[in-house]
Amino acid sequence: MKKKHLGIDKGLTNYGDKEFSKFLRRSFAKSMGYTNKSLNKPIVGICYTESGFNNCHRNFPKILESLKIGILSNGALPIVFPMISLGETFLNPTSMMYRNLMSMCVEEMINAQPMDAVILLGGCDKNIPALMMGSFSTDVPSVLMVPGPMMTGMYNNERVGACTDCRRYWSQFRSNELSKKEIEKVENNLATTSGTCPVMGTASTMAILSEVLGVMPINSATAPAVHADRLRIAENTGEIAATKILQKKITPKNYINKKSFENALRVLFAISGSTNALIHLTAMARRLNIKIDLKKINKISNETPVLVNLKPVGTGYMEDFHNAGGLDSVLYELKNSLNLECKNLEGISLKERLKNFDNKHTNRSYIFSKAKPINKQGGIVVLFGSLAPEGAILKRAAATSKLLEHEGKALVFTSLKDLSNRIDDPNLKVSEKDILILRNAGPSTDSGMPEAGYLPIPKKLAKKGVKDMVRISDARMSGTAFGTIILHVTPEGSKKGPLSIVKTGDKIKLSEKNKTIDLMVSKKEIQKRFQKLKLKKNQFSRGYKKLYLESILPASEGCDFNFL
Ligand code: FES
Repeated sequence: MKKKHLGIDKGLTNYGDKEFSKFLRRSFAKSMGYTNKSLNKPIVGICYTESGFNNCHRNFPKILESLKIGILSNGALPIVFPMISLGETFLNPTSMMYRNLMSMCVEEMINAQPMDAVILLGGCDKNIPALMMGSFSTDVPSVLMVPGPMMTGMYNNERVGACTDCRRYWSQFRSNELSKKEIEKVENNLATTSGTCPVMGTASTMAILSEVLGVMPINSATAPAVHADRLRIAENTGEIAATKILQKKITPKNYINKKSFENALRVLFAISGSTNALIHLTAMARRLNIKIDLKKINKISNETPVLVNLKPVGTGYMEDFHNAGGLDSVLYELKNSLNLECKNLEGISLKERLKNFDNKHTNRSYIFSKAKPINKQGGIVVLFGSLAPEGAILKRAAATSKLLEHEGKALVFTSLKDLSNRIDDPNLKVSEKDILILRNAGPSTDSGMPEAGYLPIPKKLAKKGVKDMVRISDARMSGTAFGTIILHVTPEGSKKGPLSIVKTGDKIKLSEKNKTIDLMVSKKEIQKRFQKLKLKKNQFSRGYKKLYLESILPASEGCDFNFL
């Protein structure tokens, strides 16, 4: 009988003689101690992103053992291959610059190496979208396994977790409310276990949305990194890879469709997830030839209540969410507005998933009911207007409500350097009603669209107790940050977007109600300024960064590369 899998003989190295290629590959594989029996099994590759520069992935050696148990005990051979790892706080200028590089490495290494299915192991912010984008571009069955969120730590009898609390304490340190000694204590207790940030930041958001899309087993997104459940999930993931998806050759293209992404968007708004998710979902959808319409986002956001009370917007942490009922409870509340026929990699539809779910144990401190939501409308909206003709993002759930309808004078920072040079200048002319503008921090700059959209409150105002101001940029914001912050302004400043011609003192008007962001300057004057505009040349003349600058698409297209 013909083998259903190709295993080690898949995609042979080209020596001009097929049988010789097989012989040589087997011979070299045997140098690693494999027997013929093992080499005749189907192969599950494990795309492994452990790194000394990625604290979030430090439980991967244990997870790997459990994945292997699941694979081996179901008749397949696990083979681990290393992948670059994007540790959020260890990369310069920003991890976002390398997401597409990682996605290319994932795609090419899955295609080039002999594997019948692949487990994608990763979790820190950009790793999930990079793994998804890469694997969506292949025809190899894949399943995602995440590290799970960190547990919280304690500082002076207060529960703390990276990184929403980092920002709060850092603001206190900046305004001299916290001493150097105390901020060091905070530093020692913010991130104390393995796993991803324990708030509803980008990593947690992307893990949850990936489960909604169906690329990982049910209830596998939120179990804490240090819980034994995490290892049981790994064993189960190994089994799924070795059996269901491998034997039936099920790839994300088989079960993910436009409706799956609409479900993911609805859940994004209900959990008040990270703004970064909009960029990543757009890029992931693009790899499956699905377009996410920015205008549709507002419709879904307006229809979807905020149900989850976690930091950075609320009070709880991921461990609370998991114990409160987790994703099942959220899906249950949203069930009347979800596309319930959407299936996951195991062929289980949302309808089947929820059939026997009982919400009587849902903890309402962290997961609110649809009848009594935290907010009647979703946490994120897309703004359009003369300052952002192709869109900008506002996380209204994280904003100060009185600033949502606001008109103020612009205070312009022309670059990240200009911002860091002047923001704490005691002579800076600024009032709390002003609108801080940062330009040249978008995707097509050499800064790579950093999470700099959370512009610090100028020190002289912070000292007076000012906690929030309207801030606008073409940058991103960490999923763990908060404030009245408008991001991803498109077209960006360095692509001749209107941000490039705003001057200090110009009036700007934000209306969340109308979903608009406008530069209150006459069309004639705007035209005049554009005529005089001279853009800075990009710095990179070689290597990956040159490719990046030549190929990057705007935020509205997920910041993917134009050739992928
Ligand atoms: Fe890895 Fe936050 S730094 S998830």
